[in-house]
Amino acid sequence: MKKIMIEAKNVEYMYEAYEEKDSFKALKGINLTIYEGEYVAILGHNGSGKSTFSKLLNGLEKPTSGHILVRGMNTKEEEHTWDIRKTCGLVFQNPDNQMVATVVEEDVAFGPENLGVPTEELHHRVEEALRLVEMEDFRLRAPHLLSGGQKQRVAIAGILAMEPDCIILDEPTAMLDPIGRKEIMRTLNRLHGEDGKTVVLITHYMEEAVHADRVIVMSDGQIVLDDVPRNVFSQVSRMRSLGLSVPQVTELSHKLYKAGLYPEPCALTVEELVENI
Ligand SMILES: Nc1ncnc2c1ncn2[C@@H]1O[C@H](COP(=O)(O)OP(=O)(O)O)[C@@H](O)[C@H]1O
Ligand SMILES: [Mg+2]
Repeated sequence: MKKIMIEAKNVEYMYEAYEEKDSFKALKGINLTIYEGEYVAILGHNGSGKSTFSKLLNGLEKPTSGHILVRGMNTKEEEHTWDIRKTCGLVFQNPDNQMVATVVEEDVAFGPENLGVPTEELHHRVEEALRLVEMEDFRLRAPHLLSGGQKQRVAIAGILAMEPDCIILDEPTAMLDPIGRKEIMRTLNRLHGEDGKTVVLITHYMEEAVHADRVIVMSDGQIVLDDVPRNVFSQVSRMRSLGLSVPQVTELSHKLYKAGLYPEPCALTVEELVENI
């Protein structure tokens, strides 16, 4: 039996009216189950509710109605707050806003230190977290001097040092150059593949969703598609109508398929396309 990591039940979220802004319902009845060890990508046009949803997933915000359960713990119940934060770590878009210390290792130690992890164990955790993101050689560097990709890897290490079983990332590559983006994707593949972490990746780069076990597409505060990457990306026109594209290679294979020049409706990677041609 697959174990459940996170369950969303009829979740709605309303932003309250504020000064000139009217109240706004950003999530409109979301039902979703994420299983332990899954790698889930969440896609959706701007304003579809992805960031709002990500903050609900580890209890940073609470649903206006409905429930989020993390390993069965309801995020609305205060007594579970720490356990939920320890189970599900959240990484944000801008690494600069996530840096708190002037030395990399201190930055990574910040989270677990606040959890009350004893000093010896703390050293061990920081070392291990930096190893997982391949930043151990930068232990004593100043975070602000690192590249964007390196900073984001340090931010991920800071979350990993709290030893979460699940890591949620809200467009972690949005501010990075292509090299930084590759670094982060490699890190995530490793955390999922070798370390067995549950990964929830919110992204607006279609290519980044290809390697997930499952792709969820949000639109207007609701989930509109939930399937394996191949079944989602083969719906080229549906994706367009949702304000999204598909990976370039998928679009190309789709055109070739329609012209009778490619055997299958959709290729997800360049390697796959080349092989089939
Ligand atoms: N603090 C806020 N107050 C009011 N509305 C908000 C606030 N934050 C986000 N929204 C609105 O909620 C909707 C969903 O936003 P968000 O979750 O950030 O979407 P996404 O991450 O998919 O771009 C948007 O229409 C946005 O304008
Ligand atoms: Mg967002």
